[in-house]
Amino acid sequence: MMSCKEMIDACLRDCPWGMRDTVSVYAPANIALCKYWGKRDLELNLPVTDSLSISLGALGSHCTMSIGDEDAYFLDGVWVTPEEPFAKRLCSFLDLFRGRDGCHYRVEAVNTVATAAGFASSASGFAAVVMALDQLHGWRLDARTLSIFARMGSGSACRSLWNGFVHWYAGKEEDGSDCYAEPLHSDWKDLRVGLVSVDAGPKSVSSREAMNRTVATSALYGGWPQQVDQDMATLRDAIAARDFQALGLCAEQNAMAMHATMMAARPAVLYWQPATLEILQAVWSMRAEGVPLYFTMDAGPNVKVLFTEDARDQVLLKFPDAQLANPWET
Ligand code: PMV
Repeated sequence: MMSCKEMIDACLRDCPWGMRDTVSVYAPANIALCKYWGKRDLELNLPVTDSLSISLGALGSHCTMSIGDEDAYFLDGVWVTPEEPFAKRLCSFLDLFRGRDGCHYRVEAVNTVATAAGFASSASGFAAVVMALDQLHGWRLDARTLSIFARMGSGSACRSLWNGFVHWYAGKEEDGSDCYAEPLHSDWKDLRVGLVSVDAGPKSVSSREAMNRTVATSALYGGWPQQVDQDMATLRDAIAARDFQALGLCAEQNAMAMHATMMAARPAVLYWQPATLEILQAVWSMRAEGVPLYFTMDAGPNVKVLFTEDARDQVLLKFPDAQLANPWET
Protein backbone atom coordinates (compact mmCIF):
# COMPACT_ATOMS: atom_id res chain seq x y z
CA MET A 1 0.00 0.00 0.00
CA MET A 2 1.39 3.37 -1.05
CA SER A 3 1.33 6.46 1.18
CA CYS A 4 0.40 9.96 -0.03
CA LYS A 5 4.03 11.02 0.29
CA GLU A 6 5.33 8.10 -1.81
CA MET A 7 2.70 8.74 -4.47
CA ILE A 8 3.54 12.46 -4.64
CA ASP A 9 7.31 11.82 -4.72
CA ALA A 10 6.81 9.38 -7.59
CA CYS A 11 4.78 11.95 -9.57
CA LEU A 12 7.30 14.76 -8.93
CA ARG A 13 10.49 12.72 -9.53
CA ASP A 14 11.19 14.15 -13.00
CA CYS A 15 9.69 17.59 -12.42
CA PRO A 16 11.69 20.83 -12.22
CA TRP A 17 11.89 22.50 -8.78
CA GLY A 18 11.71 26.21 -9.53
CA MET A 19 11.06 28.95 -7.00
CA ARG A 20 8.86 31.70 -8.38
CA ASP A 21 8.35 34.65 -6.05
CA THR A 22 4.60 34.80 -5.69
CA VAL A 23 1.68 33.20 -7.51
CA SER A 24 -2.06 33.84 -7.30
CA VAL A 25 -4.68 31.31 -8.33
CA TYR A 26 -8.41 30.69 -7.96
CA ALA A 27 -10.46 27.49 -7.59
CA PRO A 28 -14.27 27.27 -7.41
CA ALA A 29 -16.12 25.44 -4.63
CA ASN A 30 -18.25 22.48 -5.76
CA ILE A 31 -21.44 20.77 -4.67
CA ALA A 32 -22.04 17.07 -5.42
CA LEU A 33 -25.24 16.15 -7.27
CA CYS A 34 -24.31 12.48 -6.73
CA LYS A 35 -22.40 12.29 -3.47
CA TYR A 36 -19.02 10.89 -2.49
CA TRP A 37 -19.88 8.99 0.68
CA GLY A 38 -17.47 6.32 1.95
CA LYS A 39 -13.79 5.54 1.36
CA ARG A 40 -12.06 2.42 0.14
CA ASP A 41 -8.72 3.83 1.40
CA LEU A 42 -8.60 6.21 4.35
CA GLU A 43 -5.13 7.67 3.81
CA LEU A 44 -5.31 8.29 0.05
CA ASN A 45 -8.97 9.40 0.19
CA LEU A 46 -10.02 6.80 -2.38
CA PRO A 47 -13.83 6.66 -2.60
CA VAL A 48 -16.04 3.58 -2.78
CA THR A 49 -17.98 5.06 -5.73
CA ASP A 50 -17.83 7.66 -8.50
CA SER A 51 -19.45 11.05 -7.83
CA LEU A 52 -20.60 14.02 -9.90
CA SER A 53 -20.50 17.69 -8.93
CA ILE A 54 -21.32 21.14 -10.13
CA SER A 55 -18.87 23.96 -9.46
CA LEU A 56 -19.91 27.27 -7.97
CA GLY A 57 -18.30 29.69 -10.46
CA ALA A 58 -17.22 32.83 -8.64
CA LEU A 59 -17.82 31.26 -5.19
CA GLY A 60 -14.57 29.61 -4.16
CA SER A 61 -11.02 30.26 -2.92
CA HIS A 62 -8.40 32.75 -4.07
CA CYS A 63 -4.93 31.70 -2.98
CA THR A 64 -1.72 33.74 -3.06
CA MET A 65 1.38 31.75 -2.21
CA SER A 66 5.07 32.50 -1.86
CA ILE A 67 8.18 30.83 -0.47
CA GLY A 68 9.09 32.13 3.00
CA ASP A 69 11.53 31.57 5.89
CA GLU A 70 8.79 29.89 7.85
CA ASP A 71 5.20 28.88 7.23
CA ALA A 72 2.58 31.63 7.68
CA TYR A 73 -1.10 31.24 6.87
CA PHE A 74 -3.78 33.90 6.49
CA LEU A 75 -7.47 33.19 6.03
CA ASP A 76 -9.66 36.04 4.78
CA GLY A 77 -6.94 38.51 5.79
CA VAL A 78 -6.48 37.19 9.34
CA TRP A 79 -3.32 35.39 10.53
CA VAL A 80 -4.08 31.82 11.58
CA THR A 81 -2.15 30.60 14.65
CA PRO A 82 -0.31 27.26 14.27
CA GLU A 83 -2.57 25.68 16.93
CA GLU A 84 -5.77 26.18 14.95
CA PRO A 85 -7.16 23.11 13.14
CA PHE A 86 -7.01 24.96 9.78
CA ALA A 87 -3.25 25.57 10.21
CA LYS A 88 -2.54 22.02 11.36
CA ARG A 89 -4.39 20.52 8.41
CA LEU A 90 -2.77 22.84 5.86
CA CYS A 91 0.69 22.33 7.36
CA SER A 92 0.49 18.54 7.21
CA PHE A 93 -0.73 18.78 3.61
CA LEU A 94 2.19 21.08 2.67
CA ASP A 95 4.58 18.64 4.42
CA LEU A 96 3.85 16.24 1.56
CA PHE A 97 5.38 18.68 -0.97
CA ARG A 98 8.24 20.59 0.67
CA GLY A 99 11.03 18.92 -1.27
CA ARG A 100 14.53 17.97 -0.13
CA ASP A 101 15.38 21.46 1.12
CA GLY A 102 12.19 21.52 3.21
CA CYS A 103 11.04 24.94 2.00
CA HIS A 104 8.37 26.97 3.79
CA TYR A 105 5.29 28.66 2.43
CA ARG A 106 3.29 31.80 3.05
CA VAL A 107 -0.33 31.11 2.11
CA GLU A 108 -3.02 33.78 1.88
CA ALA A 109 -6.47 32.30 1.23
CA VAL A 110 -9.53 34.43 0.63
CA ASN A 111 -12.86 32.65 0.30
CA THR A 112 -15.72 34.14 -1.70
CA VAL A 113 -17.97 31.25 -0.68
CA ALA A 114 -19.61 32.11 2.62
CA THR A 115 -17.33 30.25 5.07
CA ALA A 116 -18.85 32.28 7.88
CA ALA A 117 -22.30 30.96 6.92
CA GLY A 118 -21.19 27.36 7.34
CA PHE A 119 -20.37 26.46 3.73
CA ALA A 120 -17.31 24.26 3.47
CA SER A 121 -14.50 25.73 1.43
CA SER A 122 -12.00 22.94 2.00
CA ALA A 123 -12.56 21.61 -1.54
CA SER A 124 -11.77 24.91 -3.28
CA GLY A 125 -9.04 25.65 -0.72
CA PHE A 126 -7.04 22.44 -1.30
CA ALA A 127 -7.54 22.66 -5.09
CA ALA A 128 -6.19 26.23 -5.05
CA VAL A 129 -3.18 25.26 -2.91
CA VAL A 130 -2.26 22.46 -5.34
CA MET A 131 -2.59 24.80 -8.36
CA ALA A 132 -0.45 27.39 -6.56
CA LEU A 133 2.28 24.83 -5.68
CA ASP A 134 2.39 23.70 -9.31
CA GLN A 135 2.92 27.27 -10.52
CA LEU A 136 5.28 28.24 -7.70
CA HIS A 137 7.67 25.38 -8.46
CA GLY A 138 7.03 25.24 -12.22
CA TRP A 139 6.07 21.54 -12.23
CA ARG A 140 3.59 22.00 -15.13
CA LEU A 141 1.65 18.89 -14.09
CA ASP A 142 -1.39 17.79 -16.08
CA ALA A 143 -4.87 18.36 -14.67
CA ARG A 144 -5.24 14.66 -13.81
CA THR A 145 -2.19 14.70 -11.51
CA LEU A 146 -3.31 17.99 -9.90
CA SER A 147 -6.69 16.35 -9.25
CA ILE A 148 -4.96 13.36 -7.62
CA PHE A 149 -2.90 15.71 -5.39
CA ALA A 150 -5.96 17.79 -4.41
CA ARG A 151 -7.82 14.58 -3.49
CA MET A 152 -5.19 13.84 -0.85
CA GLY A 153 -6.05 17.13 0.91
CA SER A 154 -9.79 16.56 0.85
CA GLY A 155 -11.59 14.03 -1.36
CA SER A 156 -14.03 16.48 -2.91
CA ALA A 157 -11.16 18.92 -3.69
CA CYS A 158 -10.24 16.79 -6.71
CA ARG A 159 -13.46 18.08 -8.38
CA SER A 160 -12.65 21.78 -7.74
CA LEU A 161 -10.22 22.35 -10.62
CA TRP A 162 -12.87 23.16 -13.24
CA ASN A 163 -16.10 25.03 -13.84
CA GLY A 164 -19.41 23.32 -14.55
CA PHE A 165 -20.07 19.59 -14.16
CA VAL A 166 -17.24 17.33 -12.97
CA HIS A 167 -17.09 13.51 -12.76
CA TRP A 168 -14.79 11.92 -10.15
CA TYR A 169 -13.84 8.33 -10.99
CA ALA A 170 -13.44 5.98 -8.02
CA GLY A 171 -10.85 3.90 -9.92
CA LYS A 172 -9.64 0.44 -8.95
CA GLU A 173 -5.89 0.78 -8.41
CA GLU A 174 -4.51 0.53 -4.87
CA ASP A 175 -2.29 3.59 -5.35
CA GLY A 176 -5.22 5.70 -6.61
CA SER A 177 -3.50 6.44 -9.95
CA ASP A 178 -6.86 5.95 -11.72
CA CYS A 179 -8.82 7.92 -9.10
CA TYR A 180 -9.17 11.51 -10.34
CA ALA A 181 -11.80 13.90 -11.65
CA GLU A 182 -12.52 15.21 -15.16
CA PRO A 183 -14.84 17.94 -16.41
CA LEU A 184 -17.92 16.99 -18.41
CA HIS A 185 -17.79 19.18 -21.47
CA SER A 186 -21.28 20.49 -21.28
CA ASP A 187 -22.50 23.91 -20.32
CA TRP A 188 -25.94 24.80 -19.13
CA LYS A 189 -25.82 28.56 -18.97
CA ASP A 190 -29.07 29.20 -17.05
CA LEU A 191 -28.52 26.61 -14.28
CA ARG A 192 -28.05 28.14 -10.81
CA VAL A 193 -27.20 26.99 -7.29
CA GLY A 194 -28.37 28.89 -4.18
CA LEU A 195 -26.72 28.42 -0.78
CA VAL A 196 -29.24 28.67 2.04
CA SER A 197 -27.56 28.91 5.42
CA VAL A 198 -29.09 27.38 8.55
CA ASP A 199 -26.16 27.25 10.97
CA ALA A 200 -22.81 28.99 10.66
CA GLY A 201 -21.18 27.03 13.50
CA PRO A 202 -18.74 24.13 13.19
CA LYS A 203 -20.28 20.75 12.39
CA SER A 204 -21.25 18.43 15.23
CA VAL A 205 -19.43 15.54 13.46
CA SER A 206 -16.82 16.03 10.69
CA SER A 207 -17.68 14.63 7.25
CA ARG A 208 -14.65 12.35 7.54
CA GLU A 209 -15.89 10.84 10.82
CA ALA A 210 -19.51 10.63 9.63
CA MET A 211 -18.49 8.87 6.43
CA ASN A 212 -16.24 6.36 8.16
CA ARG A 213 -18.83 5.62 10.86
CA THR A 214 -21.51 5.10 8.21
CA VAL A 215 -19.37 2.63 6.24
CA ALA A 216 -18.43 0.75 9.42
CA THR A 217 -21.83 0.58 11.16
CA SER A 218 -24.81 1.53 8.96
CA ALA A 219 -27.08 -1.31 7.87
CA LEU A 220 -28.20 0.92 4.97
CA TYR A 221 -24.72 1.47 3.52
CA GLY A 222 -24.77 -1.86 1.64
CA GLY A 223 -27.30 -0.47 -0.85
CA TRP A 224 -25.45 2.83 -1.43
CA PRO A 225 -23.00 1.81 -4.22
CA GLN A 226 -25.84 0.44 -6.33
CA GLN A 227 -27.88 3.61 -5.78
CA VAL A 228 -24.88 5.67 -6.92
CA ASP A 229 -24.49 3.61 -10.12
CA GLN A 230 -28.11 4.34 -11.02
CA ASP A 231 -27.91 8.02 -10.07
CA MET A 232 -24.67 8.61 -11.98
CA ALA A 233 -26.32 7.22 -15.14
CA THR A 234 -29.49 9.27 -14.57
CA LEU A 235 -27.52 12.48 -14.00
CA ARG A 236 -25.27 11.99 -17.02
CA ASP A 237 -28.36 11.37 -19.20
CA ALA A 238 -30.12 14.41 -17.70
CA ILE A 239 -27.08 16.60 -18.41
CA ALA A 240 -26.81 15.33 -22.00
CA ALA A 241 -30.55 15.98 -22.54
CA ARG A 242 -30.61 19.27 -20.53
CA ASP A 243 -33.49 17.79 -18.56
CA PHE A 244 -33.61 19.99 -15.44
CA GLN A 245 -36.44 18.08 -13.78
CA ALA A 246 -34.58 14.75 -14.07
CA LEU A 247 -31.35 16.37 -12.83
CA GLY A 248 -32.95 18.13 -9.85
CA LEU A 249 -35.02 15.16 -8.76
CA CYS A 250 -32.08 12.76 -8.94
CA ALA A 251 -29.78 15.13 -7.01
CA GLU A 252 -32.43 15.59 -4.32
CA GLN A 253 -33.08 11.86 -3.96
CA ASN A 254 -29.37 11.09 -3.89
CA ALA A 255 -28.84 13.55 -1.02
CA MET A 256 -31.76 12.06 0.90
CA ALA A 257 -30.39 8.54 0.38
CA MET A 258 -26.96 9.64 1.68
CA HIS A 259 -28.54 11.17 4.80
CA ALA A 260 -30.57 7.98 5.32
CA THR A 261 -27.37 5.90 5.40
CA MET A 262 -25.88 8.12 8.10
CA MET A 263 -29.06 8.23 10.19
CA ALA A 264 -28.81 4.43 10.34
CA ALA A 265 -25.19 4.57 11.56
CA ARG A 266 -24.45 3.68 15.20
CA PRO A 267 -24.45 6.11 16.87
CA ALA A 268 -26.65 7.94 14.36
CA VAL A 269 -25.38 11.00 12.50
CA LEU A 270 -28.14 13.58 12.07
CA TYR A 271 -27.07 16.98 10.69
CA TRP A 272 -30.58 18.33 10.18
CA GLN A 273 -31.93 21.07 12.37
CA PRO A 274 -35.59 22.16 12.53
CA ALA A 275 -34.79 24.99 10.09
CA THR A 276 -33.27 22.48 7.64
CA LEU A 277 -36.56 20.60 7.49
CA GLU A 278 -38.49 23.85 7.05
CA ILE A 279 -36.39 24.66 3.99
CA LEU A 280 -36.88 21.18 2.48
CA GLN A 281 -40.63 21.53 2.99
CA ALA A 282 -40.60 25.04 1.50
CA VAL A 283 -38.85 23.67 -1.61
CA TRP A 284 -41.47 20.92 -1.91
CA SER A 285 -44.33 23.42 -1.49
CA MET A 286 -42.88 25.74 -4.12
CA ARG A 287 -42.52 22.77 -6.48
CA ALA A 288 -46.14 21.77 -5.86
CA GLU A 289 -47.06 25.32 -6.87
CA GLY A 290 -45.19 24.92 -10.16
CA VAL A 291 -41.74 26.43 -9.41
CA PRO A 292 -39.05 24.01 -10.66
CA LEU A 293 -36.83 24.04 -7.57
CA TYR A 294 -34.84 21.16 -6.01
CA PHE A 295 -32.40 20.82 -3.11
CA THR A 296 -29.28 18.96 -2.12
CA MET A 297 -27.44 18.80 1.21
CA ASP A 298 -23.97 17.78 2.34
CA ALA A 299 -22.55 16.82 5.72
CA GLY A 300 -24.13 19.72 7.60
CA PRO A 301 -27.47 21.44 8.27
CA ASN A 302 -27.28 23.93 5.37
CA VAL A 303 -29.24 23.48 2.15
CA LYS A 304 -28.29 24.11 -1.49
CA VAL A 305 -31.12 24.78 -3.95
CA LEU A 306 -30.98 24.05 -7.67
CA PHE A 307 -32.98 26.15 -10.12
CA THR A 308 -32.79 27.88 -13.49
CA GLU A 309 -32.36 31.63 -14.02
CA ASP A 310 -36.07 32.18 -14.76
CA ALA A 311 -36.96 31.14 -11.16
CA ARG A 312 -34.39 33.52 -9.61
CA ASP A 313 -36.90 36.09 -8.32
CA GLN A 314 -39.09 33.45 -6.68
CA VAL A 315 -36.05 31.82 -5.05
CA LEU A 316 -34.84 35.15 -3.66
CA LEU A 317 -38.32 36.04 -2.44
CA LYS A 318 -38.45 32.79 -0.43
CA PHE A 319 -34.76 32.74 0.59
CA PRO A 320 -33.64 36.41 0.64
CA ASP A 321 -30.26 35.63 2.24
CA ALA A 322 -29.30 32.87 -0.22
CA GLN A 323 -25.90 33.25 -1.89
CA LEU A 324 -26.39 32.53 -5.60
CA ALA A 325 -23.85 30.85 -7.86
CA ASN A 326 -23.57 30.61 -11.64
CA PRO A 327 -21.55 27.42 -12.25
CA TRP A 328 -20.00 28.68 -15.52
CA GLU A 329 -19.06 32.15 -14.38
CA THR A 330 -15.31 32.75 -14.29
O1 PMV B 1 -14.24 15.92 0.72
P1 PMV B 1 -14.81 15.76 2.08
O2 PMV B 1 -13.98 14.87 2.92
O3 PMV B 1 -15.10 17.10 2.71
O4 PMV B 1 -16.23 15.01 1.94
C1 PMV B 1 -17.30 15.54 1.21
C2 PMV B 1 -18.53 14.77 1.46
C3 PMV B 1 -19.82 15.37 0.91
O5 PMV B 1 -19.72 16.77 0.81
C4 PMV B 1 -20.95 15.02 1.86
C5 PMV B 1 -20.19 14.77 -0.44
C6 PMV B 1 -19.44 15.27 -1.65
O6 PMV B 1 -19.38 14.49 -2.62
O7 PMV B 1 -18.95 16.41 -1.67
